[in-house]
Amino acid sequence: MRAKILAFTPENIQKAAQAIQDGSVVGMPTETVYGLAGDSRSTLALTRIFEVKERPRFDPLIIHLADTGAATKTLTELERLKLIDGTQLPNQLQQMAHKLMKQFWPGPLTLVLPKHPEVPELATSGLPTIALRMPSHPVAQALLQASKCPLAAPSANRFGRISPTTSLAVAEELGDRIDWILEGGASLIGVESTVVALKPTGEILLLRHGGTPLEKIEAALGFPLLVPTKSQTLLGPGMTESHYSPSKPFRILPKDVSQLHLSDLTEIYSVLDTVSPQTQMGLLTLSGDPQLKANLLKKILHRPVIATSLSLTGDLSEAAQQLFAKMRWLDASEAAILYCEPCLTQKGLGYAIHDRLTRASARGESIN
Ligand code: TXA
Ligand code: MG
Repeated sequence: MRAKILAFTPENIQKAAQAIQDGSVVGMPTETVYGLAGDSRSTLALTRIFEVKERPRFDPLIIHLADTGAATKTLTELERLKLIDGTQLPNQLQQMAHKLMKQFWPGPLTLVLPKHPEVPELATSGLPTIALRMPSHPVAQALLQASKCPLAAPSANRFGRISPTTSLAVAEELGDRIDWILEGGASLIGVESTVVALKPTGEILLLRHGGTPLEKIEAALGFPLLVPTKSQTLLGPGMTESHYSPSKPFRILPKDVSQLHLSDLTEIYSVLDTVSPQTQMGLLTLSGDPQLKANLLKKILHRPVIATSLSLTGDLSEAAQQLFAKMRWLDASEAAILYCEPCLTQKGLGYAIHDRLTRASARGESIN
């Protein structure tokens, strides 16, 4: 493996910042997931990001900002940095943007705003808008400040695969293609930022569920966001139905394992006919004792089952934090087919967990 994992020391931050200034890309921890960071103003670095990730150019990047106090959370500052064109936003939306930045930055919220003409086309996939976020992770902030430029950073996985939430997972994904990965511990939130667009037409749209729950954003604004339907969401940039995918077949069960009946499993049985009775099944539970649930599923499927739980108590924050790491674990296990309990809780991080599970299970299915 080519990549070295660098501990969080001032010397290593300087080393990584120097690499960024030379147009290279670096694995960077954030509170949501690890990113692959490069200078957002350098076409060389942006090209490198797309190459390393094998990412199609139609999928725009999120630009990460340094937090140097309250003044950095204003549209004036974003204009000074030549990132946005605030004049395109009606007054009322400018106020809403300020509210969101003040309340949620630094943190897992990305805002999509009209872009400044000098932002490279590659960063935004040619769109008239730019996605901006201010991460709260201390290592990301140290790198941003030492690099002295906004950093483009998509999640540090090969395109379409499971996002990394540890430095080792970045090494697994990209270790043969990059030199440095900064160590930042396991990402605390575990799912990507929530993406919200503020449009010149006056609309505020939710583009991606993520680490900042929908209801918190709505409470801050004092009104509901426009939430596109599934098919409208898929028309958005970078919104492919299949994403975050394990390499093995991954299916969402219709119910919690404790409530499953034979009749719920017609589809599963047809798949099972194609594999031998010794084949291991993998199970990701949303709550409860995974061993108990593995035993229940084993009785129904007549196949060995290995299980792991996102949260014994069903805590949604813990489940989100564990989600990608546990998906990776099952993907690397002996299990040949993976099943997951559904996440039906319509609040907090439940939306983001449901979204990621649905996309992880959508591989090979048509978009409709
Ligand atoms: O938490 C996160 O946001 C992580 C960490 C590393 O910060 N980053 C991340 O980046 O999730 P990525 O590249 O995996 O997802 C970026 C997504 C795009 O796929 C697209 O859906 C949305 O952000 N996006 C970016 N620019 C946009 C734009 N101008 N308009 C609409 N959506 C945009
Ligand atoms: Mg991603």
